[in-house]
Amino acid sequence: MNLLEMKNVGVDIKDDVNNNKEILKDVSLEFEAGKIYVITGPNGGGKSTLAKCIMGIMPQNTGKIYLDGEDISDLSIVERSKKGIGYAFQTPAKFKGLKVGNLLKLAKGDSENSIEQTLRNVGLNPEEYLNRSIDNSFSGGELKRIELASILIQDLKLALFDEPEAGIDLWSFKLLIKTFKRLNRFTDTCIVIISHQERIMEMANEIVVIDKGEVAQKTVKNKLLSILNSNDLDNCELTCCERGELCGE
Ligand SMILES: Nc1ncnc2c1ncn2[C@@H]1O[C@H](COP(=O)(O)OP(=O)(O)O)[C@@H](O)[C@H]1O
Ligand SMILES: [Mg+2]
Repeated sequence: MNLLEMKNVGVDIKDDVNNNKEILKDVSLEFEAGKIYVITGPNGGGKSTLAKCIMGIMPQNTGKIYLDGEDISDLSIVERSKKGIGYAFQTPAKFKGLKVGNLLKLAKGDSENSIEQTLRNVGLNPEEYLNRSIDNSFSGGELKRIELASILIQDLKLALFDEPEAGIDLWSFKLLIKTFKRLNRFTDTCIVIISHQERIMEMANEIVVIDKGEVAQKTVKNKLLSILNSNDLDNCELTCCERGELCGE
């Protein structure tokens, strides 16, 4: 059985002049436990909205979402979180004033994962960070890594990572790849990563392309990677991230 199933999901929002804008249209996708899925596609295509919809942050207007066969379409973020869904935001939330160690303790819950090791896995030295309060002195990359750690420390059925590479240096990026591989190898967590990075796509069991709010393509990785590697990129409106190059912070 599929772990998570999206059936004909649509998300609309009202724009400035109160017109309905369809951000996701008739999206049907299936996710299995123990697998890695990469969601990619042009900016503004609806990838983050898809993740927010699974997490319950942006509820769907049409369609249904099932977790382990149970309809979770009407459940709140907290209820979905209790059922084992976690989402690492593209732009990390700031938990101002909270110490890094305390934030991770809260996130950890009953999981057996070590706070120290999780910090190391995202390239942060626990001795330096555990007792530091989160404030404006943190760089975007540091916040991003703390956000990632707060998801990685949980025992999740489905972990959503929204552009985890953004703002992360090459060294931490390599650690992150290892961490995803370890998570995939030693747990049954279904890993869904929104990314433009070829190194991340290489880990995927399945790559889903979202464009203009729709599933444009579902493919096993080799096919898509060969498209990305071809020199047709000049014809596409791709940013450096989408070409798989690391951005500076
Ligand atoms: N809360 C919102 N209000 C208005 N427009 C939104 C909102 N969230 C997303 N959008 C629009 O929906 C489209 C898809 O956004 P998003 O899911 O963030 O794309 P992606 O993550 O693929 O770059 C974009 O055109 C974006 O401007
Ligand atoms: Mg996005």
